[in-house]
Amino acid sequence: MAELKVSAIREGTVIDHIPAGKGLEVIKILGLNRVNGGILLLAAHVPSKKLGRKDIVKVEGKFLSEEEVNKIALIAPNATVNIVRDYKVTEKFKVDVPEEITGILRCANPNCVSNHEYTTSRFYVVSKDPLKVRCHYCERTMEGEEILRNL
Ligand code: CTP
Repeated sequence: MAELKVSAIREGTVIDHIPAGKGLEVIKILGLNRVNGGILLLAAHVPSKKLGRKDIVKVEGKFLSEEEVNKIALIAPNATVNIVRDYKVTEKFKVDVPEEITGILRCANPNCVSNHEYTTSRFYVVSKDPLKVRCHYCERTMEGEEILRNL
């Protein structure tokens, strides 16, 4: 099978092993669509040995920190982040679920204040695997499918 080449970057961050179809959401969660300057590359539905198909996001000229990238852990739990300098991968890390999740997830409790006022949602991670979170405002816990439905 012919291999599709996605061009290498000189300097910046490559987020690899994103589930196919989730690359655009990764870009939005990280606010990369609002960054001026560097080139942003999204490769979608790329064949992958591990995942079948995957998305890849490349950001030229910007080095994302582990903390920033961990925001995507809920939608891309197996993503790897590569820091590239002078065309070489100089650092590689896996995303990790952060201790607190703010602004990404909606609370499943329709009466929760975070669903009614201009409040940023906030959850504490009670367990990482399997993922279980607790709302800071109403203490409702969420896990499994319920988390995915409220992303
Ligand atoms: N990459 C890039 N530009 C570079 C170097 C690497 O865009 N100058 C990208 C590669 O295309 C790949 C990712 O960064 O998507 C990681 O590169 P590398 O570690 O060389 O690839 P693998 O060994 O296949 O990574 P892994 O084991 O994490 O799958």
